[in-house]
This record gives sequence, C-alpha cells and structure tokens, in this order.
Amino acid sequence: EKGGWSSFMAKEVAEQPEAVANTIRGRIQDGQVVIPELDGLDELFTGINRVIITACGTASYAALVGKYAIEQWARVAVDVELAHEFRYRDPVIGADTLVVSISQSGETMDTLMAVKYARERGARTLSVCNTQGATIPRESDAVVYTHAGPEVAVASTKAFSAQITALLLLGLHMGRVRGTVADASTDVAELLALPEKVAAVLESEQEHVTQLAGWMADTRSVLFLGRHVGYPIALEGALKLKEISYIHAEGFAAGELKHGPIALIEPGQPVFVLVPSPRHSALVHSKVVSNIQEIRARGARVIVVAEEGDAAVLPFADEVIHIPLAGPMFEPLLAVVPLQIFAMALATAKGLDVDQPRNLAKSVTVE
Ligand code: M6R
Repeated sequence: EKGGWSSFMAKEVAEQPEAVANTIRGRIQDGQVVIPELDGLDELFTGINRVIITACGTASYAALVGKYAIEQWARVAVDVELAHEFRYRDPVIGADTLVVSISQSGETMDTLMAVKYARERGARTLSVCNTQGATIPRESDAVVYTHAGPEVAVASTKAFSAQITALLLLGLHMGRVRGTVADASTDVAELLALPEKVAAVLESEQEHVTQLAGWMADTRSVLFLGRHVGYPIALEGALKLKEISYIHAEGFAAGELKHGPIALIEPGQPVFVLVPSPRHSALVHSKVVSNIQEIRARGARVIVVAEEGDAAVLPFADEVIHIPLAGPMFEPLLAVVPLQIFAMALATAKGLDVDQPRNLAKSVTVE
C-alpha cells in the first residue's frame, strides 16, 4: 500500500498537492468560492456574531490559520479552543455562535464531546472532516469534507494541508454570503495555484532539508518562531518533531521572544524562523528580521523559511529554505512542507519508525 515509498508519512507528504487540489475541486464557480454542501445554509453564517473553532493537536493549528482567514474575509470574531478545554468550563455560547470543529478522523472523542456540548447549548455546528460518515460530521448541522484521502501515518500531514485549504474555502464562502468579500478573484487565483506551488516546494527542498536533518541528528532541542499565520506553522513544526523524532521542540509567536523564550537561546541552539513576505507587510517582515538578528547575536543557528528573493534575511541566516511567492493567507501551506520533511528526515536519521511513533495512536477515541 505504501507504493514505492519508505513510509506512509513520506507518501502522504508527497500527496499534498493532490490533497489540496481535491479539496478545492468543485468548490469554485464563476470565480467565487461556493461550497455545494453548504447550499441553503446561509443562515449558519448570517445569523451569527461569533465563531469558535474547536479541535485537538494538528487540527487545532489548522484552526488557528482558519481564524486569521475567517476574520479577514468574513469579518466575524473567531476564537480557537482546544476541544478538551472548551467543554470543561462554562463557555458563553448560544444561537449566535457557530462552532466549527476540525478532525481528520471524525472520531476524536474530545472533539466529538465539544461538538455535542455546543449543540446542547444551542450553538450551530459545522464540521471539517476527512472521513465520510464519521461520528463528528453526523453530530453536526453541516459538514465540509476535506479530500486528502485516507491518512495512515500517525503524524498528520496531508490532512493538515487539506484542513487549511477547507478553512480558506470556508472563509471565502462565508465572506461571499455575508457580503464582506466583494471580489474574490485574487484569492481564488491563489487557491488554484496552490497545488503547483506545494509541488514546487517538495521538488526544490526535499534534498536540502533532508541533508540538514542528517547533520542535526544529535540535536536535543529545536525552536520554531512564526508570526501571523506563520505562528500556527511554528507550532505544527514543533509538534511534528516531538511526535516522530522525540526531540524537545517548541513553537513560539516571534513577538513573544523578548517576553521569555529568548532566555533559551545559547550558542548552537537551532531555531527555525518562518518569515512572512515583505510584500504583505514591510512592518511585520521587519519585525521578524529583527527577531532573527536578536537570536543570531546570541549564537543561535538560524534556519530561515522565506519566500524566494527575500534578500533581507540572507546576512543573518545559517540556512535558507525557499518557498514560492503566495498571498498572505496561503503561505502556511507552503511553509509547513519543509518542516514536515525535516521531522521525517530527522526521525529516519535516528533510525525511528516514522509511521508508528511510540505512545501515540492515529485516532484518539478516549478522553
Ligand atoms: O483525527 P483528528 O484530526 O481529530 O486528530 C486530532 C489530533 O489527535 C491529531 O492531529 C494529532 O495531533 C496528530 N497525531 C498530529 O500529527
């Protein structure tokens, strides 16, 4: 079933261009995002004044990207809540709340219980799920399926890309329905260009990143920094590394550095920095570049993920991983790929089984 691949994870990482393309297919009409499953359900999006996205693990990082996209396009406040935290307090929700759940398996007990809890309190529920007919979509008012195909490796990769894609589609769909996106043509073009750009990153960075991981096989800790939609990707890069290579890893919002994490920087400490494009915001870009200077000055080994042609990062980076140019909401789908490859290559260099990491199950069906 693995085909010629060394692991399911390697196969699933490579399948991401199709996972993204299949999730988009059939959901664009006349230059607009129209999700057929949501036909007749406009009320879900017009009759609300807040959105809560709930999920666990990797799906919760896709949720964080979704927060930026939905707020930007649909102009409605979005909170992201870990499912197991959400239902063990007394959250303020009701008929004006749309609770979006995200789950690859559709069977994660924590997420399922959060959805049931939200429904009991009168919230509207929509699930983003990769498994047809699973329990979570059956318990929800509406479902938007991701079409990543079956994911076997414990570490989620193509499902994550498909989840982000579905949330971008949902954000644009909601924006159209709510009348807050007048012209989606640029974003639709960005969406359609994604599969090829993801394929380009796989093609251009596979060898470079694998080599880098080989050099770093003895590393005991790796840090990841990101800002805006790069922040959830920093969290995801760290989780992938923890899960399959058993190396201590932490993701931080780059702006938090001086509020604590910079104390961790000592000579030789590897730090991945996800640099947002200067084309989106020169200010945000310059802030991340100063973070890079600050950690470099303290001896960090800086591995930068930046868009092609970003010359500002070159003087301060030990390694540069390039991603193609993309719109602000679309960069996460490109930036995550080298981090997945890095985790996989490091685990392989340590002789570990990347598909079946210790202590973990693919689907967590107990609380
Ligand atoms: O099936 P789900 O998407 O609900 O699973 C949620 C998490 O358990 C899952 O993403 C987990 O964090 C993965 N092992 C991450 O690689």
